[in-house]
Amino acid sequence: MTAPKAPQTPAPQKTPDTDSLRPLPVNSLSPDEAAREHAALTDRIRALDEAYYQEDAPDVSDGEYDALRRRYEEIEARFPALKGTESLSNRVGAAPVEKFGKVTHAVPMLSLSNAFSDEEIAEFVARVRRFLAFDDEVLEFTSEPKIDGLSCSLRYEQGRLTVAATRGDGAQGEDVTANVRTIADIPQELKGDDVPDIIEVRGEVYMAGADFEALNARQAAAGEKLFANPRNAAAGSLRQLDPKVTASRPLKFFAYAWGEASALPAETQFAMVEAFGRWGFSVNPLTIIARSAQELTQHFHRIEEQRARLGYDIDGVVCKVNRLDLQRRLGFVSRSPRWAIAHKFPAEQAITIVEGIDIQVGRTGALTPVARLVPITVGGVVVSSATLHNEDEIARKDIRVGDTVVVQRAGDVIPQVVRVLADKRPPQAHPFAFPTTCPACGSHAVREEDPKTGKLDAVRRCTGGLICPAQMVERLRHFVSRNAFDIEGLGEKQVQALFDWGLLASPADIFTLEDRNAASLQRLENREGWGKTSVKKLFAAIEGRRNVAVDRFIFALGIRHVGETNAKRLMRHYGTVEALEQAALTAVTPAQEQLAAQASAGDDALLPGLADTAARPRRLKGNEAWQEMTNIDGIGAVVAEGVVDFFQEPRNREVVAALLSHVTPAPMEAVARESPVSGKTVVFTGTLEKMTRDEAKAMAERLGAKVSGSVSAKTSLVVAGPGAGSKLEKAQSLGVEVISEDDWFALVGEADAEA
Ligand code: IVH
Repeated sequence: MTAPKAPQTPAPQKTPDTDSLRPLPVNSLSPDEAAREHAALTDRIRALDEAYYQEDAPDVSDGEYDALRRRYEEIEARFPALKGTESLSNRVGAAPVEKFGKVTHAVPMLSLSNAFSDEEIAEFVARVRRFLAFDDEVLEFTSEPKIDGLSCSLRYEQGRLTVAATRGDGAQGEDVTANVRTIADIPQELKGDDVPDIIEVRGEVYMAGADFEALNARQAAAGEKLFANPRNAAAGSLRQLDPKVTASRPLKFFAYAWGEASALPAETQFAMVEAFGRWGFSVNPLTIIARSAQELTQHFHRIEEQRARLGYDIDGVVCKVNRLDLQRRLGFVSRSPRWAIAHKFPAEQAITIVEGIDIQVGRTGALTPVARLVPITVGGVVVSSATLHNEDEIARKDIRVGDTVVVQRAGDVIPQVVRVLADKRPPQAHPFAFPTTCPACGSHAVREEDPKTGKLDAVRRCTGGLICPAQMVERLRHFVSRNAFDIEGLGEKQVQALFDWGLLASPADIFTLEDRNAASLQRLENREGWGKTSVKKLFAAIEGRRNVAVDRFIFALGIRHVGETNAKRLMRHYGTVEALEQAALTAVTPAQEQLAAQASAGDDALLPGLADTAARPRRLKGNEAWQEMTNIDGIGAVVAEGVVDFFQEPRNREVVAALLSHVTPAPMEAVARESPVSGKTVVFTGTLEKMTRDEAKAMAERLGAKVSGSVSAKTSLVVAGPGAGSKLEKAQSLGVEVISEDDWFALVGEADAEA
């Protein structure tokens, strides 16, 4: 990246922070000192970049900025372990995201689930067939290379390119229209007489290998930063503030998918891509139609064999169901289509030495062992640490400090230790003793026992909860993260700093920060790494989140097992934080019921064999509030227990109450547009003849309905097929509307075609 340019007449300079940051030559820094300085420099440079890009007068000169940057790079060169994903050097050429306008994708840009073996492809094919209830019918798939670039959505209206956007988080991307207009492979205007009025063509922006080499040679000659791989080069080139820079970079594009479309020119995946070709796009010539798992894997191995000669990077092959009507029936699970899968190439491996085993404490208190490695390049990326998952894994592989090990990484996955080279083990290496106390707070660290199976959880967890500083910072980081409260300007580093200064100890503190800052002697804006503008922006960002959507609010709390999807499911059902809290407080879990029974009846009643068979099922069902929660589609006992445990802990309720005194959550956004069944609770029972049970469920959910397994007064509609029994009777006795499968299609068919 070029240095932010200072204004012609630099503002009077503050005491340069560089003084305190440059006491020692890089060579004589200890790893700890280097890490501290690296973190400080990251903050400083980021703040300067922000100031520059947001057109505030930067408060350092060009030379000073360059010096900071050089020092930063020298530290990373000497301590490559610091080059994490957060490294500014990894963001060569990438301008701050805020600079690009946001584009909301009319149809989300999804990701693909992965397969790593021929067997998994066979399972995928079997799964699709099962879902569609295809026995002997021919089922076609397409198979094509998975391009290692970055995906882009191109909107054409009346055949003219109007908007181009990156994938972003899948829902919202960055507006890169001006840059995309400079890519020769992307037509400004589509040709042909079957171009729909509106069509979003999607595909991959990438850089060919030779172009990448040439670009890096130019960069080197100009004394500019080198790109690590073609993918980074493509990303850095597309996300340029100045389209002229993009224009000078040799980017290419393959079209393979689409988003919103007023009409479709074809009925199969293959014919759609052919249409893209006619309209003027490059499409991948290695795309074929396959009729079985075997044909799919054959094509995969053919492509794998040609991989090195293709001239561009690919990281696997994508298999898609060919017929679009079947794609529609299959729908999506979470963020990936059921009708497609990425068959990835095996991970790349390298050999290195374990320098140490560190224990990290996660936001849920999980103790994760991480191998500190002698840095090594694996598949073009420097790897200096690898996850060891848990203590059983360390024991199983018998990984010891000092061992020589094989590490591998696949795509963006965290590097892993595959195995130990036992003959290279130093004689003094001894088996690793996993700590039984939390390295962050000293509390006991325990392995939970699964109530059903009696098996020990693989993960050891700190029991310190809210008193554990490691969990506190992690909880706060999670709280402000992108899919939670999404507070811009409050990244991991800032959270850590505010925590270290005692300004942030609980989520509610975020919302009193501004007032406390105003009353403070040592204001935030005077501290290292902060400035007037960034502090002002931060407070504005916080202010803007006082009405965060309620599902984000719940997700932000970091309740065990409650991720984004479960937070949405819970909120779709309960609507408000208060209602969920009330339900969790009222709920009696089977485990609690059992304990209560134990207390009143004495332990004998629970001994196997002696346990009363009639009483047992009743005891294990939990109360009504519990059943209501576990009846929510997608919410099982494990998730519900996480919710109940969370709210039954008084300290957690205090946290929530404090937060609610500053935040008024907004209702969550509707799932689907209006449909005749949105918001209703539907039960399917009996034999369905036109769709499988999974398909029925997916369809109802797509239309905004909740699907439940049992009939109650809350059920709005029962779809009954032949052979329906007790559920049908119950519905009739409760006066719940009952319809046939045909009625169901008559009711929702049209809405589904639009959804
Ligand atoms: S299809 C709904 N086809 O892989 C699925 N994706 O892991 C749409 N990718 O974000 C994706 N080559 O960036 C598809 N031939 C291909 C692809 C491809 C590369 C990327 C794409 C996507 C990611 C998913």
